[in-house]
Amino acid sequence: MNTSRALVIHVLLLVVVTTTWGLLATRGRKNSIDMELCMGCICEATSNCNLTFQCTRGLCGPFLISEIYWKEAGRPTITGDNPNRKGAYHKCVTEPYCAAATVHQYLAKYHQDCNGDGRIDCDDFARIHYMGGHQCKINMNHLGYYKIFRECNKSLQKLMG
Ligand SMILES: *[C@@H]1O[C@H](CO)[C@@H](O)[C@H](O)[C@H]1NC(C)=O
Ligand SMILES: *[C@@H]1O[C@H](CO)[C@@H](O)[C@H](O)[C@H]1NC(C)=O
Repeated sequence: MNTSRALVIHVLLLVVVTTTWGLLATRGRKNSIDMELCMGCICEATSNCNLTFQCTRGLCGPFLISEIYWKEAGRPTITGDNPNRKGAYHKCVTEPYCAAATVHQYLAKYHQDCNGDGRIDCDDFARIHYMGGHQCKINMNHLGYYKIFRECNKSLQKLMG
């Protein structure tokens, strides 16, 4: 199987696992689908979108989310959990839906034009996720993460026409 096809399948898998129809209804269908695909490419670049990934060096789940990132995102939890419970962070960021919600909230908080192209889109979101909200203007074009992100983006754009 060629890599771009594998990427696309992975991304669509994430979309299926993390999307709710409620979200699509409230945010406008076109925009939310774009956002879900964007999340898929970020997931792909971060961990190969491994939905069962645990932790490495303080970074957990398919989006490799640190506890600080989770706190800045407003400490989302899985349904019924308490954000003050020890373990709420790990439980959330290793569960794909809660992990994706954490990324959404972090991106909303740090929403900005990192690459200076005059608009705020998935390229900016990929930078914010990786570099953090305060450092997203740092050049990251040489990083493996960013290269995989671009490849994923290109594959999806080709697919969507
Ligand atoms: C791909 O990149 C374009 C241009 O930055 C952006 O508008 C689009 O949302 C991106 N899509 C994905 C899935 O990354
Ligand atoms: C996903 O991560 C788990 C836990 O680290 C690992 O055991 C598994 O091999 C990974 N799966 C893939 C497809 O890389």
